Amino acid sequence: MSLSVVILAAGKGTRMRSSLPKVLHPIADKPMVSHVIDSARQLNASNIYVVYGFGGDVLKSQLTDKQSGDDLTFVEQVDQLGTGHAVDMASPFIKDDENVLVLYGDVPLTKVTTLESLIAVKPSDGMSLLTVNLANPTGYGRIVRDNGQVVGIIEQKDASAEQLLINEANTGILLANGGDLKRWLSNLSSDNAQGEYYLTDIIAAAHREGKTITTAHPDTEIEVSGANNRVQLAVLERAYQARQAEELMLAGATLRDPARIDVRGEISVGQEVVIDVNCIFEGKVAIADGVIIGANSILKNCTIGKNTEIKPHSIIEGAEIGEYCSLGPFARIRPGSVMKNDSHVGNFVEMKNTTLGEGAKAGHLSYLGDSDIGARVNIGAGTITCNYDGVNKFKTVIGEGAFVGSNSSLVAPVNIGAMATIGAGSVIVKDVEDNDLAVARGKQRNISNWPRPIKN
Ligand code: UD1
Ligand code: CA
Repeated sequence: MSLSVVILAAGKGTRMRSSLPKVLHPIADKPMVSHVIDSARQLNASNIYVVYGFGGDVLKSQLTDKQSGDDLTFVEQVDQLGTGHAVDMASPFIKDDENVLVLYGDVPLTKVTTLESLIAVKPSDGMSLLTVNLANPTGYGRIVRDNGQVVGIIEQKDASAEQLLINEANTGILLANGGDLKRWLSNLSSDNAQGEYYLTDIIAAAHREGKTITTAHPDTEIEVSGANNRVQLAVLERAYQARQAEELMLAGATLRDPARIDVRGEISVGQEVVIDVNCIFEGKVAIADGVIIGANSILKNCTIGKNTEIKPHSIIEGAEIGEYCSLGPFARIRPGSVMKNDSHVGNFVEMKNTTLGEGAKAGHLSYLGDSDIGARVNIGAGTITCNYDGVNKFKTVIGEGAFVGSNSSLVAPVNIGAMATIGAGSVIVKDVEDNDLAVARGKQRNISNWPRPIKN
């Protein structure tokens, strides 16, 4: 049977104290509701309905910007009359003969395997609930059983003293047949302590019709925890990061401290990778075998070839780093840069849109922008490619094996030939042929026994 997912996201989130709708507050740089949407996609949901109440415009723009939002249908719930009312907003879209899974936009850490287990236990002519045993279930709806069979859910505010002793709590996540769900929702009443249309009342309705109600359970409580304020959001963030760290270690990486790493995107690692403390990974990062990453480094949308060493405090973004390279400490590799195998970039070197050839070196204090640097080139300390005239950007090309002396300025557009040599301190404005030496600086004059000025 096909699956549709209804994601409840209509809450205002007053306790976030924010103009941003609650479900857009991020975990690992991604809106909470996007984590939920991703889970729905991993379940191959044929339709995803996002029930929203506030900030519809910002919600739609943030969730559909990413060119992948075509599978989302936004359904407005103008007045928040309860969870049952919220799901009912999607009823006009729901087909009779499909499974409907209800998820929550502010509960981002539910594992796909947990949802799969919920789907697996659902009887074809019944429904299933995700429940959790809590030492302190205060605030949650309680699962009411009769001879072990689920017969209903009672909300905290409607529960008797005896029912309040039940530890099995409703996570809110449930799965039902579309036709059943629509029928049950259309018959809900708001005659309860909160005057709301409770989604949870469909369980008693199912039981009255003689349907079987089965349950599945998450591995850990955090999977079904929501965030109502920024404190809870931070708790979820740490739990998410702990999970990322665990996955990296199980994939073969050594984390010097699994509590001090942040993954805000997708990272893949080979074996024998060592990551020191306080590194941040953003976007898509692929790290090959044997890579060592020093403390406090930030890697975003990049690939790192095998056995490369990134020394502490390096920042790499939008770059492709080859094998057996070394970078940093304090290297900054900006978008469009490529380091070929065996190349080396040292401290305080900035590269932008530049290819550094195989075995080439830029050891210290350089800016290399819009450049194509050949194999085995040596870039002396303090070399600057002057790529910008204040209006346009120009390219610098340096041939294989060239040697650029320290503190040279290469004023682009300019070509330095293969095996050419640039004298230290030169300002190069004209092309240099292969094998030539170019020296472009004031000639040194020595004055013997020069009398120093005397203080007046
Ligand atoms: C709900 C459940 C409770 C469960 C708990 C788990 C009901 C009646 N109760 O209680 O059994 O233990 O969740 O956290 O379902 N929402 C809407 N529109 C509405 C009302 C709510 O979109 O009209 C959204 C909220 O934004 C929130 C979610 O649904 O994300 C849950 O609503 P909330 O009012 O917090 O339900 P609880 O009282 O916590
Ligand atoms: Ca709640």
